[in-house]
Amino acid sequence: MNFIVAVDGPAGSGKGTITKRIEKEMGLVNLDTGATYRCVALQALRHGLTVENESEIIDLLDDIDIKIENEGEKDKIYLNGEDVSSEIRETPVTNAVSPISSIIPVREKMIELQRKLAEGKNVIVEGRDIGTVVFPNADLKIYLDADESVRAKRRYEESIKSGIDISYEEVAEHIQWRDKNDKEKKFGALKKAEDAIVVDTTNLTIDEVVEKIKELIKERMKMKNECIT
Ligand code: DC
Repeated sequence: MNFIVAVDGPAGSGKGTITKRIEKEMGLVNLDTGATYRCVALQALRHGLTVENESEIIDLLDDIDIKIENEGEKDKIYLNGEDVSSEIRETPVTNAVSPISSIIPVREKMIELQRKLAEGKNVIVEGRDIGTVVFPNADLKIYLDADESVRAKRRYEESIKSGIDISYEEVAEHIQWRDKNDKEKKFGALKKAEDAIVVDTTNLTIDEVVEKIKELIKERMKMKNECIT
C-alpha cells in the first residue's frame, strides 16, 4: 500500500516534532521537505550566491544530490554525501531559504525528488505545499497552525537548545517575515488545501496533537484497506 499523509503549516506550528513522533509510533516514513530546500540554500551560500543570482542557483541544481535518513531523534540529511543535518538549521540557511525556495525551477526539482522519495511507501510528508501541489491526492491532509507568538517561542527555545545564539525578538521578527514570504509565493505558497483538516496546536500539548493525528490516520487507513479488499 502507498499511504500518504500530508502535513502543512507555518514555521513553528509543530510539524517536525509531530511527524517525527508519528514516524516512530506508527512506522511511517517521515519526509521533511523543508530540509530539501535548506540543502539548496546551503549549496547556494557555499557558492557565495544569493537569491539575486537566480540563474547560477538554477545551474547548481544538476550537482545537488540529497539523501534523507530517518534515524533516532533527528533525521540525517546528506548533501552530496556530506552530513549537513546541523548546518542546514543554522541562521544563514534559515535566513536565505524562503526566497530561494520561491525560484520555480528549484521547486520543480525538489517536488520531483520528494515524489520519488515517497514512492511505494507509507509516508508522512511535512512542508508548505504538500496537500496542494506535491501530493494533491494524499490519503489524509492536515494543516497545523498555532498563534504567531507561540510559534516564535517554540522556535526560540529550539534554537537555544541547539546552541544557536539568537534573541526571542530576532526569532519573532524572522518568523513574521518568513510566513509572509511563504504565503505570498507565486507557486507553492503555504496554503491550506480545501480538504485539509485544521489542527490548531496553540493550546494543545504535543501528546494531544500526536494522539489526534494518529486517530485520523488509523481511521483513513482502515477506510483505504476496506476499499482495497
Ligand atoms: O519547514 P522549514 O522551516 O525547514 O522550511 C524551510 C523553508 O523551505 C520555508 O521557509 C519554506 C520552504 N518550504 C517550501 O517552500 N515548501 C515546502 N514544501 C517546505 C518548505
